[in-house]
Amino acid sequence: MQHHRIAVFASGKGTNFEAIATACSRGEIPADVVLLVCDKPQAEVVEKAARLGIECFAFSAKEYSSKEEYEQQIVELLNSHGVELVCLAGYMRIVGSVLLEAYGGRIINIHPSLLPAFAGARAVEQAIEYGVKVFGITIHWVDNTLDGGKIIAQQAFNYEGNDAEEVHRIGQQIEHKMYVETIKKLL
Ligand code: GAR
Repeated sequence: MQHHRIAVFASGKGTNFEAIATACSRGEIPADVVLLVCDKPQAEVVEKAARLGIECFAFSAKEYSSKEEYEQQIVELLNSHGVELVCLAGYMRIVGSVLLEAYGGRIINIHPSLLPAFAGARAVEQAIEYGVKVFGITIHWVDNTLDGGKIIAQQAFNYEGNDAEEVHRIGQQIEHKMYVETIKKLL
């Protein structure tokens, strides 16, 4: 079976990054995570990459004059690493035209709601404020809309209450499995 090359983009804790990287190293996904891209040099995910021996490009957007400039650098890295699929995992930045032109149709994202409901930031909190009883996770293609690209996979769960942390906890357990399974199918 062909061995694929994937990149993960993240900004925070990196539990999805770790789930994907571990699944790759265990041979559950026929791929290697060859690059982590992180826009928060102090984020926990950067340490996780170091621990797992995965190369990391950590950058601060404010050190660049524009989104185009840092995305150009990212595209060069993706090309030089032969990346075939980009997995956004809590990457809290809008993907711009430079990345989309180079990698459009090869970028996926995981989002903690049943899209198209509750796109954007604080999806779980928005859903709780709305009083929803069925929460969920969506994996979708990334295009130039905010969380609006075509849906690849979704999973719902029932929850009655208003504890956002609890919803995040349930949701993340689903995310880790779902992201691994979806990447496997796509490859
Ligand atoms: C994930 O729960 C993901 O769904 C969410 O960020 C979290 C990152 O967690 N993404 C979004 O909200 C995107 N709009 P992690 O760093 O532990 O993988």
